[in-house]
Parts: sequence; structure tokens; C-alpha cells
Amino acid sequence: MKRVVVLLSLLSLGHSAPVSSCDSLLKPITISTEQMLGKWLYVGGSSDLPGSRSLGRLMTSAWLNITATPQSNVLNLIQTQRIYGACSSLTYDVTFENSTMVIEKPFYLKEVYLPTDCSDCLVVYEGVVSGKDTFTSLLLFSRRKSVLPAYQETLQEQAECLGMSAPIMTDPNYEMCPDNIPPSEGLSALNSLLEAKMGHRVARLLDAFFDMFVN
Ligand SMILES: *[C@@H]1O[C@H](CO)[C@@H](O)[C@H](O)[C@H]1NC(C)=O
Ligand SMILES: *[C@@H]1O[C@H](CO)[C@@H](O)[C@H](O)[C@H]1NC(C)=O
Repeated sequence: MKRVVVLLSLLSLGHSAPVSSCDSLLKPITISTEQMLGKWLYVGGSSDLPGSRSLGRLMTSAWLNITATPQSNVLNLIQTQRIYGACSSLTYDVTFENSTMVIEKPFYLKEVYLPTDCSDCLVVYEGVVSGKDTFTSLLLFSRRKSVLPAYQETLQEQAECLGMSAPIMTDPNYEMCPDNIPPSEGLSALNSLLEAKMGHRVARLLDAFFDMFVN
């Protein structure tokens, strides 16, 4: 229960833009399982996960393949990314119900989807609880490699409404990873990343470094 309260309070954080427009920009949308399925290309995003800003610079492309499973409320995700030139792929199952994606363990993750005028985009607002830490991410995916500047601006406004740092966009000219990378089991890998608490300080330093020198 406590975790749910934390995530709900994350949803109402920070208001630097006018409240009424933030309210509409941050109101989760209704989305069906069918609309979720298929290939989604990562376009850009913002996160307070330590190290994510550095990763955002080093990760030149990423995509998801979401497929249905025999269980109607369970989806399978294959996540493929190119980091520092190397492709890797992870797979995991998630619960998807009532326009909300949830992973219960080994960490708690909840995703809702925010409004966008881009008809082939998915704006993900994600909260993660790992032990005593909570992290928030705002991610933009699209069926296409690039997204019109106007839609990127909406993402920027959503980040401002949430009090998050400016989204880092991927370069649409980068090479995508192929479809055929054998995925490894993803949840334990993601969990060890989240649990690497000793690494948080180093990751924050790296983030600060990238923000200062690589803009
Ligand atoms: C989804 O909505 C239905 C009907 O409103 C409700 O019975 C169910 O508990 C909800 N599921 C979740 C995971 O919130
Ligand atoms: C997505 O996964 C499904 C099921 O594994 C597969 O049939 C499909 O070819 C995949 N699509 C891509 C683009 O990898």
C-alpha cells in the first residue's frame, strides 16, 4: 500500500508551467492491449534514475517489441538497445490492465501513458520503487524513428510539469539493432542495476559530467 501512495504522490510533483495545462498534459490516457502491441522505437526521455543521463548519451538507439501471451492481462516485452555500439536484448513479462502496466517484483514498477497529439507515439510515465529508492521516468516511443519537433515540445512541457530535467532525444540517424539478438532474462538484470546502490554516487557524478560537457 505504501508503495502505491508514493507513486501517486509522484504523479502530482512539481508545477513550473501553468496548472491547467499541466493537468491535461499529465492526465493518463486510456489505451488498449492492441494499441500497445508491436514494435516501438525509443525517441527520447528524461529520468531521475542515477546514471540515466549518461546512459541517455551512450544509448544511441533502443526499441521494444511487445507481444500478447496466453494470459490476457500479461504482455511480453523484448527490449533491444545499442549502448556504446553494442547491441543487447532483454525479455520480461509485465501485467497490463486498465491502461496501466505493472511489474510487482523483484522491484515495483508502474507505467501509465500520457496524452500526445502524435498519433503513432507512446508517452510513458513510469514510477519505480526499488527498496527505499523511488525513480521517475518520462519516455517517448514512436512507431517511427523520428518525431516532429512539435511533439517533442509537448514531451518537454510534460517534463517541466513533472519538475524533471529536459528530455534527451536520440539521433534518428543512428543505426538500429537487428531483430535477431537472443534476449536474456530481463527482470533480474534490471533489478541488479537498480540495486547497485553503491554505484549511485558514481552514476550521479557521471550524469553531472555529461550534462556539463556533452551538451
Ligand atoms: C481494472 O478495472 C476493473 C473494472 O473497473 C477492476 O475490477 C479491476 O480491479 C481493475 N484492475 C486493476 C489491476 O486495477
Ligand atoms: C516481435 O516478437 C514476435 C513474437 O516473438 C515476433 O513474431 C516478431 O517477429 C517480433 N517483431 C520484431 C520486430 O522483432
